[in-house]
Amino acid sequence: MRHMRFRACFIVAIMVAVTARGEDQPIIQYGDRFHPQIGYGGMVVSQEALASQVGADILAQGGNAVDAAVATGFALAVTLPQAGNIGGGGFMMIHLAEAGRTLALDYREMAPGAAHRDLFLDDQGRADPQKSRFSALSSGVPGTVAGLVHAQHKYGRLGLEAVMAPAIRLAEEGFRVDFPLYWSLKRARERLSRHPAAREYFLAADGSAPETGTLWRQPDLARTLKRIAGTAGRDFYEGETARLIVEEMSRQGGLITLQDLKNYQVFERHPVSGTYRGYEVVSMPPPSSGGVHLVQMLNILEGWDLASLGHNSAAYLHRLVEAMRRAYADRSQYLGDPDFVDVPVMALTDKSYAATLRRHISLDKATPSSEVAPGLAVPKEGRQTTHFATWDEDGNVVSNTYTLNFSYGNGIAVSGAGFLLNNEMDDFSAKPGVPNAYGLIGAEANAIEPRKRPLSSMTPAIVLKDGQPVLATGSPGGSRIITAVLQMVLNHIDFDMNLAEATAAPRVHHQWLPDEVSVEKGISPDTVKLLEAMGHKVEITPWVIGRTQSLSREDDVFLGVTDFRWPGGAAVSPR
Ligand code: GLY
Repeated sequence: MRHMRFRACFIVAIMVAVTARGEDQPIIQYGDRFHPQIGYGGMVVSQEALASQVGADILAQGGNAVDAAVATGFALAVTLPQAGNIGGGGFMMIHLAEAGRTLALDYREMAPGAAHRDLFLDDQGRADPQKSRFSALSSGVPGTVAGLVHAQHKYGRLGLEAVMAPAIRLAEEGFRVDFPLYWSLKRARERLSRHPAAREYFLAADGSAPETGTLWRQPDLARTLKRIAGTAGRDFYEGETARLIVEEMSRQGGLITLQDLKNYQVFERHPVSGTYRGYEVVSMPPPSSGGVHLVQMLNILEGWDLASLGHNSAAYLHRLVEAMRRAYADRSQYLGDPDFVDVPVMALTDKSYAATLRRHISLDKATPSSEVAPGLAVPKEGRQTTHFATWDEDGNVVSNTYTLNFSYGNGIAVSGAGFLLNNEMDDFSAKPGVPNAYGLIGAEANAIEPRKRPLSSMTPAIVLKDGQPVLATGSPGGSRIITAVLQMVLNHIDFDMNLAEATAAPRVHHQWLPDEVSVEKGISPDTVKLLEAMGHKVEITPWVIGRTQSLSREDDVFLGVTDFRWPGGAAVSPR
């Protein structure tokens, strides 16, 4: 039976890969590396195949899931420059099999000491997106190196130099540019060419994107990675790399100082956890909103028998959307960095609060967002982030999402160091407490303050049954991350889909404001009509909703699925 499900998994994925080849889909090249993968001895899944292979090799060398995750994280910084990074930050969920516990590692960027709440306002007091997204002011103090080194040192089995060796080789000896990387660089060409070091590192001599098949070497990045490996990460925060970052800041007018880098701190936090139909769902607490609202939405939805409504039926999607609407309304009001503001995590994830919200949901009529809460548009977040997961034979699991915020961050590279900087400061509310264009009041909890972490939506998640992990998943997608992960969990638990089916199924998204339901093209027009008849404004999104990377395990068999909404990823096992 299990093997039949795995076979079905292949068939579904191949069918979807073929049907997704529309004229308007720029990314249509599915190479032979795209497949839902079964394997033994552990598994690694990521958005870039070489990096997944690096993680699987580390497992084969006797590394555990944390070693594999750190190796994959550093490798993605070389092979997936649009989102893999050492100049950004992220979150890592680590399930430790022997201890029977899961922890949440917070290596999110921190605001520099000189940052202040009006940093992104222009002379007229208006929020200036150019400043918060594309200037050097948009960079928070990067946390990725500190986070990966912390994880490896505390929970890994191999040495840092061993797990970083493959990333250093990929940067030093180079790798062939594949179509997804070529396509991504081509789209970012204009932005990358504005900055001299970014142009030199990421574009060909004539300013075009490097062609598919080009051998791409990154010697400055290789040297930076070597310094990190040789100093247990200290070089990045106190040594040569720190000096290069600060020099770049002074050339570009950014705020990060040597002291800011020295002050950077990784936190181990208690995960947000909830129960759902006998499963335990564990994810990232604030400063991510991901875990809180994943659990909140599951709590609301648990009160209905979703399976009986039918997957992606209008009745099901209506309930989903109404749960999303309420969770995102709360997000805008309450969520921020818990070291600066009191975030009511317990209250938001309480089942009786969810029951109250559920009671106010009409089952045949959309609730206008204006009636759910007064408020402002949820800050729009960049859509380029990346998720990976690792699982070892002993049952240790890592679910990691990290990011530069936008694709290629702010497009500013650190000259001499070979990597791009994040524009995560844009995830703060540029103008809290002041009415926006619609007269709505902003989110004070997420105002800019020195050393504060900007609110995130990243939702690395692990689902457990009877204390054993059964699913690790996560996604890029800005504000759509939480709803993409929610649908993976629902597809797995309520609709008993295997990983490929769960990944393939068309997704929907609602974030309270704007008051519209985004639906992927696979949702049937009949269903869209039924939703519209209930009062929903439906938008067929030109973008995909999330790009999940997921792993599961049944006995000694591992199953991994990279989301075909973007090509180039792979799930790889040591054997
Ligand atoms: N920058 C996207 C996020 O952290 O949610």
